[in-house]
Amino acid sequence: MQKSFLTRGRLAAVGVASAAIVAAGAVAAGASDRHRATDVAATATSITSEPWGSANGQSVNLYTLKNSHGMTVTITNYGGIVQSIDVPDRNGKVANVALGFSTLAGYLQNNSTSPGASGTTYFGAIIGRYANRIANGQFTLNGVTYHLPQNNGTNTLHGGPNAWNTKVWAATPSNNAQGAHLTLTYTDPAGTNGFPGTVHATVEYTLTQDNALRITYSATTDAPTVINLTNHSYFNLAGEGSGGVQGQTMMINANSYTPVNANLIPTGVLAPVAGTAFDFRTPKPIGQDINNGDTQLVLAHGFDHNWVLNRTGTGLSLAARAADPVSGRVLTTWTTEPGVQFYTGNFLQGDLVGTSGKTYRQTDGFTLETQHFPDSPNQPSFPSTVLNPGTPFHSETVYQFSVAGSGGDSSNTHSGDRHSGKRH
Ligand code: BGC
Repeated sequence: MQKSFLTRGRLAAVGVASAAIVAAGAVAAGASDRHRATDVAATATSITSEPWGSANGQSVNLYTLKNSHGMTVTITNYGGIVQSIDVPDRNGKVANVALGFSTLAGYLQNNSTSPGASGTTYFGAIIGRYANRIANGQFTLNGVTYHLPQNNGTNTLHGGPNAWNTKVWAATPSNNAQGAHLTLTYTDPAGTNGFPGTVHATVEYTLTQDNALRITYSATTDAPTVINLTNHSYFNLAGEGSGGVQGQTMMINANSYTPVNANLIPTGVLAPVAGTAFDFRTPKPIGQDINNGDTQLVLAHGFDHNWVLNRTGTGLSLAARAADPVSGRVLTTWTTEPGVQFYTGNFLQGDLVGTSGKTYRQTDGFTLETQHFPDSPNQPSFPSTVLNPGTPFHSETVYQFSVAGSGGDSSNTHSGDRHSGKRH
């Protein structure tokens, strides 16, 4: 049975130009108000839930967040996975732009010890407690060396085995003037996968009326530890299962990136992108330089690197803009984080059947994993990922969808820079 969390409130401006959500029931009944009531009723967001099986002996739900501008996002509290993102194109035609599986069983299988040749993909999941790699499965903090399970060659990847992407999170749905929200919480006990400190994490997903999926991450610890949180959605702006993204354009707002060694661990150098395949400062097709023989592209089998974002201030700052010239769909990413991992699905091998029944092959999607830099616990020159008791972690990322006509896209402005996103 489906439960509805549609709420009805008063007219409210919510900080984004097009977003005004209200509830028909709260509007007075004059002639003009009746007109307004019709408009506002049509702009309400909603969130519903349905049972979606069970994992780790706990029942799991699938939540459906909707707005009235054609966008629907489904999220499960298993791993906090964004299972689908339906977005209209420039003609109003809706497609699911997020790679994933149609059932919970698909995610459980991919997270199991036999995930298939593509390995664990982390489709749509919350990644914690440490996104991307920690070299040699160890780091030293305050004079103590911590040993972590090595689940990616000699590295610890995405928090190690059975990390946050495999947990059933406590979920609270709500809906208000800012949009439809799903608040997820999880407590990661000290010692799990070798990390010190019990971490209480909260991730809030919000679908707004202006077609943004906003993600806020908060965490506290009771002992010094390290933290790096992201979402691992793979996007294909033509629709998942529609083939390769090479013809879709990408802009990354970064003058430098962090090249890697053969284990995909940053060398520590911040290398200028100028004159390399890694220069996405002006939009270019994702496939334009992907096969150009650059050693870095050979090591990673494509793009799988951290870009050092050109940040302005401490709030939300433009990270990347991707566009599909055919459908007109545009994805603009804003973040408070210093880096973004642009990964072109290099390890997808055609052995996984996705949501609409099509297999996923190399370069059939891309991720924009906003983050602190990989291996920061071992790289003193990188921005710190240390989390201490009494100084909560907070970060925010916005995936803003829009459409471009023939002359450009409609997502060049954003009411960002409103929130402080710094480690305190
Ligand atoms: C990593 C890739 C990895 C992928 C899926 C990305 O964040 O950078 O190297 O293959 O996640 O595990």
